[in-house]
Amino acid sequence: MITIEHISKTFRGGFRALDGVSLSVKPGEMVALIGASGSGKSTLLRHVSGLMAADAGSGEMRVGDRLVQENGCIQSGIRAVRADVGFVFQQFNLVGRLPVLTNVLAGNLARMPLWRSCLRQFTQKEKQHALDALARVGIVEHAYKRASALSGGQQQRAAIARTIMQKAKVILADEPIASLDPESSRRVMQTLADLNRQDGTTVLVSLHQVEMAMRFCPRTVALSKGKVVFDGPSALLTETMLRELYGAEADEILCPKNDESDAVQQTQLVRNLELTSFAAAA
Ligand SMILES: Nc1ncnc2c1ncn2[C@@H]1O[C@H](COP(=O)(O)OP(=O)(O)O)[C@@H](O)[C@H]1O
Ligand SMILES: [Mg+2]
Repeated sequence: MITIEHISKTFRGGFRALDGVSLSVKPGEMVALIGASGSGKSTLLRHVSGLMAADAGSGEMRVGDRLVQENGCIQSGIRAVRADVGFVFQQFNLVGRLPVLTNVLAGNLARMPLWRSCLRQFTQKEKQHALDALARVGIVEHAYKRASALSGGQQQRAAIARTIMQKAKVILADEPIASLDPESSRRVMQTLADLNRQDGTTVLVSLHQVEMAMRFCPRTVALSKGKVVFDGPSALLTETMLRELYGAEADEILCPKNDESDAVQQTQLVRNLELTSFAAAA
């Protein structure tokens, strides 16, 4: 469902954030992407979604049977790919002043005619789908509240409901629990796991902490300095192994702290997403 073939990314100044990364995720898998901050998790997810082009000379990147980029060139059909990919971010990226229900309905924008999305004219059937999606993530009673009135964990579940509305085949989640308390984190991870198991949605979720990867994701890919240093069953990740893989960085993965700089990067990123045009129209 996700194919990444020998992708490298060098930022201006020569810093190599991804260094020959290859991996593939089968349909219906739920895979954790772990690593210390700065190891390249967000950069990799941005490449998969076609928001960032890899270095020339990099291989292919595909979602399903659609090409996202090849040899450092993002394909022109990228919008069609994005319709199938749901994004979940650390900072939820809901439009705070709009009702939760409207935020969830926004998941359908890529499949709606432009005039109707601009006017925010949703059909009764679409509204029912959005309510069903909210019921599935357990927050339907908050459907008519402003998104900003919800707790962090509830907002994140609304963001997941938006991917259900979108009928996303793949969910890319970039540290979706990094700003949540432990109980909310568990519920958000459980919601992603339920979607994966019940609907067969493929999930690639970056996590700062190995514990959640082991609990919810059968497979883990670990990055260090832009390279894949482990790819296998999460059950095989032991503390000893992580200390060997990460050396001095191991404490960060075993006892993580939140990374504020990610929030800033993600705010920039959301400007690129369809949701922004929706906010402008609202
Ligand atoms: N737009 C950018 N320009 C320059 N360097 C960047 C940019 N985005 C990320 N980096 C650098 O690439 C490395 C990997 O970043 P990132 O993918 O955000 O790591 P992670 O998500 O694992 O914390 C970091 O050292 C970061 O500073
Ligand atoms: Mg990150």
